[in-house]
Amino acid sequence: MKVTRRQFLKTAVGAAVAAGMPAFPLRSALAQPKTAVREFRFSASPARVNLGAGPDFIAWTYNGQVPGPEIRAREGEIIRVVLKNFLPEGTTIHWHGVPVPNAMDGVPNVTQKPVMPGETFVYEFEARPAGSYMYHSHVHYQLDQGLYGPLIIEPSSPKGAYDREYTLVLEDWVMRDGGGVADTQRRPAMGMGMGGGMGGRGMMRGRGRGGLESGNGPLLEPVYDGYAVNGRVGPAIQPLEVSKGERVKLRLLNPSSATIYDLRLAGHTLIITHADGRPIKPLKTDILRIGMGERYDVEFLADNPGTWILGAADQGFGEGQLRIPVHYKGIREKEAEAPTFHRGLRFASYWDFQSLRSSEAWASKAANRSYSQTLSGGMHSPYWTINGYVYPDAERLGVRTGERVRIGYWNQSMMPHPMHLHGHFFKVVNPSVPQERWILKDTVIVDPMQRIDIEFLADNPGNWFHHCHNLYHMEAGMANVVMYES
Ligand code: C2O
Ligand code: CU
Repeated sequence: MKVTRRQFLKTAVGAAVAAGMPAFPLRSALAQPKTAVREFRFSASPARVNLGAGPDFIAWTYNGQVPGPEIRAREGEIIRVVLKNFLPEGTTIHWHGVPVPNAMDGVPNVTQKPVMPGETFVYEFEARPAGSYMYHSHVHYQLDQGLYGPLIIEPSSPKGAYDREYTLVLEDWVMRDGGGVADTQRRPAMGMGMGGGMGGRGMMRGRGRGGLESGNGPLLEPVYDGYAVNGRVGPAIQPLEVSKGERVKLRLLNPSSATIYDLRLAGHTLIITHADGRPIKPLKTDILRIGMGERYDVEFLADNPGTWILGAADQGFGEGQLRIPVHYKGIREKEAEAPTFHRGLRFASYWDFQSLRSSEAWASKAANRSYSQTLSGGMHSPYWTINGYVYPDAERLGVRTGERVRIGYWNQSMMPHPMHLHGHFFKVVNPSVPQERWILKDTVIVDPMQRIDIEFLADNPGNWFHHCHNLYHMEAGMANVVMYES
């Protein structure tokens, strides 16, 4: 999944020529340039996979591979994905982070009926805005079974002064079925029943239809035994090759179902340039935390020849196995140097980020409407709730086009919840930064007992899913729908 800028430009021109268009369309009143369409054919099917180490097992895949094929387009092009379902159950694809038209959003029973076995569905949307995204199934535990992949939108005119770029997809695996459904070891129900407070009080409203349709109740998080990068685990993880003096860009994507990574590159400082695809004021850090559903673009200057590891801190679940070697060309050292995680390191947080561009319009207005959302784990219950509700028996958050909407999260559980809103970017409210510099994101980790507010502009009509991106929390009820009232 390495692509140099030159290679991509070549491919883009090649595709335009193949489509019978001039590579640089002439603008005239008579001949309007046609928009290039990038078409991909995805077969969703079970397939035998191997992550380069460990056993063969059956995962659910797009085109037989994990992760799925990289979708890469230029801003303004049309992305068309023809999905054919060879799975034994219905499926959908969600374009995580891209503000697509509602009908293309891929949420079963909210924006479309699941695509049933043998059926075909065509997704089509404009590649906009430029940034790092991902796509994944939005049905049950299919994400954890392997149905996800990277989606990269290049700026229409090349920006950025980097020499080399890598896309790194971070994945948590049970090397048996992915993690979704097998009768496998599950993590103890940590943090459950500790919610209690305001919304929870051990009483759940609307309980009964949440979780699995089978009536077995939702699954607990599995114990993962493989932490993969681009579908490879452990010693099979593909090293990053760099040359001295280069500026290297990494697109870090986390479609993991239940793993937050704290990453550090030994011997180098990371410079964060984009959060969830949106440009921020470049910020140096030693440790980068990336939650489920989040994406970060970082850069580093290859100014320290040697052999290094970009690795994750171990939180007690084996995440420390995630180790990506960084090799300087022409240098081979036997031992790669791994990062250490100790006190005193820079640890960038949302509160340190400022958006690169200031949005003046944002400074002048105040929210028209606000909702508070208490995140909680049910007492003595496998369900996870928002304001005490278990999806689908959940609240509907009404909004009107043009409104500025505030959502105030209050996490009353002992687990972090990466909250994700479909169809929109939102501002993360940060009192220590001028409003016009609040960052845009689409997924925000709300830590245990923390309060975080977000605000979004209601500019994309439809019914939009809003949920925790821990797949096991989402399936256990921690979801609702933002609905445009006409
Ligand atoms: Cu990746 Cu509903 O989201
Ligand atoms: Cu959660």
